[in-house]
Amino acid sequence: MFPITRPRRLRRTAALREMVRETRLHPSNFIYPLFVRSGRGVKDEIRSMPGQFHFSPDTIVDEAGSAWEDGVRAVLLFGLPDQKDELGSEAWDDAGAVQTAVRELKRAHPDLLVLTDVCLCEYTSHGHCGVVHDGRVQNDPTLELLAKAALSHARAGADLVAPSDMMDGRVAAIRAALDGDGHDDVAILSYAAKYASAFYGPFREAAGSAPQFGDRRSYQMDPANADEALREVGLDLDEGADIVMVKPALAYLDVIRRVRDTFGVPVAAYNVSGEYAMLLAAAERGWIERERAILETLTSIRRAGASIVLTYHAREAARLIR
Ligand code: PBG
Repeated sequence: MFPITRPRRLRRTAALREMVRETRLHPSNFIYPLFVRSGRGVKDEIRSMPGQFHFSPDTIVDEAGSAWEDGVRAVLLFGLPDQKDELGSEAWDDAGAVQTAVRELKRAHPDLLVLTDVCLCEYTSHGHCGVVHDGRVQNDPTLELLAKAALSHARAGADLVAPSDMMDGRVAAIRAALDGDGHDDVAILSYAAKYASAFYGPFREAAGSAPQFGDRRSYQMDPANADEALREVGLDLDEGADIVMVKPALAYLDVIRRVRDTFGVPVAAYNVSGEYAMLLAAAERGWIERERAILETLTSIRRAGASIVLTYHAREAARLIR
């Protein structure tokens, strides 16, 4: 007890603080999300996400190369289709923007880890993550389409596929499709506990994926639930997920911790577009210090138990901690 015990002794100098630091950030734990569309020479800034861009397959190769120089080892691709339709059929087009970008990225940067988001919402005219029939998102007919999309990504050379749709049974369907085509080494990072969140707003503008009617509450999770997150994660692991994700990150740090403690598998957390946009907006007004806030945010997500952080800050953070 005080005055014998004085926690401040170990905070006296920078070297002491570093010596007893429990959580460290390293760029190898970051995944950098990128948006790709067809064309050449495209680099259009996304209005709702300053500093993030729409790329074409050639410019995304340059961006990933720069990210690699900064220390980032993994990217996650989201596609913007040329045409949307009722089923989202461009999602499994072997000549699609994502599939083309994967091939070009793996050719230019063979050691870079390339992940692909597997979902239909960017590709469907109604903006939902699955097949819509009678005004409802149908679970089972969607599984086959997600499996086709994941398989086309694997054939293009993706290292991991990341289903974000929240249909029941999709991990098993994707695992079976991959294994049936000889892609048993392609890993699945499942968006296992994905909440129906207000913090996806900027992304939906970036990806043009806002639902045209209703919302996603019949498939994404209720923000009030945490026990259910453990059930979701358990199911995805049983179906063959290699890494499980909690999304968003900041409002769900308790869920990250419980998943980590319960399952002891690699846990990823998605520092989503709304979290990114809030931080940047406040920093722009001089209300918070940008760089400190970025590092504190990412440290908190790692401290909560995430091994992997998906973040639009990946490049900047990697440079800050070099
Ligand atoms: C698609 C998807 C979304 C995000 C990742 N994949 C949006 C959504 O579910 O509406 C959000 C990413 C972000 O906000 O940064 N299903």
